[in-house]
Formats: sequence, structure tokens, C-alpha cells
Amino acid sequence: MTPAHDRPTPFGSDGLRRLPLRYGIDAGTASDARLWDWLLGGFANYAADRRAGERLLELAPSAAVIARHNSDFGARAARVLVAGHGITQLLDLGSGLPNPTADVNAIARAIDPSVRLLLVDRDPLAYAHTRSLHDDDHTRALHADLVDIDSILDHPLIVPGAPTGVLLTAALHGLPDDTAVTRLLQRLRERLVPGSLLVVSHLVADDVHHRTAVTDHMNTSTAGQWGRIRTRAELDHLLATFEPLDPGLVDVSHWRPDPDRGVLQTTREWAMYGGVAHLHHPCAH
Ligand SMILES: C[S@@+](CC[C@H](N)C(=O)[O-])C[C@H]1O[C@@H](n2cnc3c(N)ncnc32)[C@H](O)[C@@H]1O
Repeated sequence: MTPAHDRPTPFGSDGLRRLPLRYGIDAGTASDARLWDWLLGGFANYAADRRAGERLLELAPSAAVIARHNSDFGARAARVLVAGHGITQLLDLGSGLPNPTADVNAIARAIDPSVRLLLVDRDPLAYAHTRSLHDDDHTRALHADLVDIDSILDHPLIVPGAPTGVLLTAALHGLPDDTAVTRLLQRLRERLVPGSLLVVSHLVADDVHHRTAVTDHMNTSTAGQWGRIRTRAELDHLLATFEPLDPGLVDVSHWRPDPDRGVLQTTREWAMYGGVAHLHHPCAH
């Protein structure tokens, strides 16, 4: 008989369930994470991602600029969380492939070396690369779907009583169903303590033709693994009960921009929209 420790198990060494094997790497179909990596000038992408990316740039020429502005926003927001609000625990949901120009781990640890960071993504290549760089007592990668938020929050790195900075940058479009987004935000609010902050950005387009063309292209290229662009009003509605820090929900290139950084986003057809908000009403604590 096979000894118990040699038998296959659906659990990792940290006791958490892994995604099923149907989520294995498919180099012939584009993926959200790898296409984003290509837009940002990375190398962790395949021909299918580059072809889908080139078509995306035809439909939306500002896509690469938007991706860059989103990274810069994530970096600025992470600094504000750790330096300005004393956050020592970060949860990056839909963390993507490692991005050396906006490395949340390096940014946070440069300010406070004791910060803990859990990087979560459903993309197998994003998980593999992230894990190859981060696998210590402070920073871990986790292969999981955001719909499984309760298992994610049970990860041993997450200390239940510690105010947490949740990063949800350019990832909520992966949950096309508003009920799933509302449930995710609700569970974060229920499970994380007051003082926790949410960093959120989301692709929005009020022009229905643009919204439909990009959403359709991304879903066709990724075999339905993408989701959807929302309108600005839809995002405002999803985040209506969250109290944002100044300057509120804005085009992210306008969120506390670095004075010495060049041009702000000027594109009209769509925007990366977001901000930083309290998970609980600030007067409640
Ligand atoms: C556009 S990339 C953004 C990466 C990074 N957050 C950033 O701001 O640069 C979106 C990431 O979210 C991940 N993602 C989308 N939906 C997800 C889901 N339901 N569960 C886990 N990860 C998801 C994708 O795999 C991808 O890596």
C-alpha cells in the first residue's frame, strides 16, 4: 500500500486547496496575466498573447499607456498604505506576473521590512513566476481564484487581527458577475478588521461600442477567461458604500500623481478608474 505521505492530495504544503488541473498553462490561448505582461514590456508571454495584444492595440491604442499608469498607481498606493497608514499586511488579489517597475514587495519592504504580503492569482504562469521570486516568511504566492476569498483569507500568512491593505488593481474585470464582486467585497469587509484599506482600479468605458469591442476581443482571445469592462457608473455603484481617501475615485493617473512624472492619461475612449478606500467606515473605529 502507498504510504499516506506519497498519495496525491488536492492540498498544498500550506494546507490550502489548489486549483484543478484544467487551469494548466495553455500557450495556444491568450491569458489576461500574460497579455498584461506583454503590454508592460515583460517577457513572460507567448505568441498567442502577443497576437491578442496587437489586436487589442488596434482596438484601443492607449492600452499600453493605461497598463503603465495602472502600475504606477499601484506603486503609489502601496507606498501610501505602508508609509501613511501603518499597514503591515498586504493582500494582492490578481497580482499578475512579477513587474519589476512596480514591485509591491520591494516598495513595501523598503518602507517597513516587517510587512507581510500574499500574492494571489489564478493564472498558473503568474503563480509560478511569483513563487520563484517570493517564498519566505514574509512574502508568499498563492494559486487561487478570487471567488474562493474565504480560503485565501485562511492562508497562514494572513494574521486575522491585523489591518490589511487589499490590492485589487485591474483584476475585478475577471469577475464579470456583479454579485461575485459584491460578495468578494462583503467578505473582505466581514473578515478584515477596521483600519483595513482597499486599493482598487478597473477598466471603465462609457462608450458602448468600445466597451463591447474590447470585452468581446478579450473573451474570444482568452477562451472566455476574461470578464468585462464596466461603465464608470457601475463601478461607482459597486463601491458606493466605501469611503474613499482623497481625491476619491478618479482616472488612476490623477490619483496623487508624482509631481516629477510626465503626462497624465489623456485617452478618451476608456480609463483605468479607481482609488483607495476604507473597508469600514472610518468613524466606526
Ligand atoms: C490585468 S492583470 C493586473 C495585474 C496587476 N494586479 C496589476 O495591476 O498590474 C489581471 C490579473 O488578475 C488575475 N485575475 C483575474 N481574475 C481573477 C480571478 N477571478 N481570480 C484570481 N486572479 C484573477 C489575472 O490572472 C491577471 O493576472
